[in-house]
Amino acid sequence: VRAVRLYHPKVIEHYTNPRNVGSMDKKLTNVGTGIVGAPACGDVIKLQIKVDDRTGIIEDVKFKTFGCGSAIASSSYMTELVQGMSLDDAAKIKNTQIARELSLPPVKLHCSMLAEDAIKAAIRDYKTKRTTTTVLR
Ligand code: FES
Ligand code: FES
Repeated sequence: VRAVRLYHPKVIEHYTNPRNVGSMDKKLTNVGTGIVGAPACGDVIKLQIKVDDRTGIIEDVKFKTFGCGSAIASSSYMTELVQGMSLDDAAKIKNTQIARELSLPPVKLHCSMLAEDAIKAAIRDYKTKRTTTTVLR
């Protein structure tokens, strides 16, 4: 009953039926992995993107979240959002956009922040790997 009052139906929907849950092999050179934690509550999001090296388009996304309903819903929504996006566009996504879509209350804003941090970390990881691989070649 409490959860129903705290969470918006969109959060509950993503929480009950999360999209793109899973893992990809983080050793693949075209996979970027972001693992971030929220100091406020200890929740953790792992978000992975698979990128088309040629076009810079995100062609697959997977996440695992050890956290609250809002963190799971934010990650799930984020994976839907960035699918098919360019890295540059994905890097511009703001947590406020996610918070608005999911109608997160102020106390849950950091959960959407975690999703923003996670996509940024995944993009960073991919770019670092790509530079390293290019140098090695
Ligand atoms: Fe309880 Fe985040 S504080 S799950
Ligand atoms: Fe901490 Fe949601 S309560 S991520």
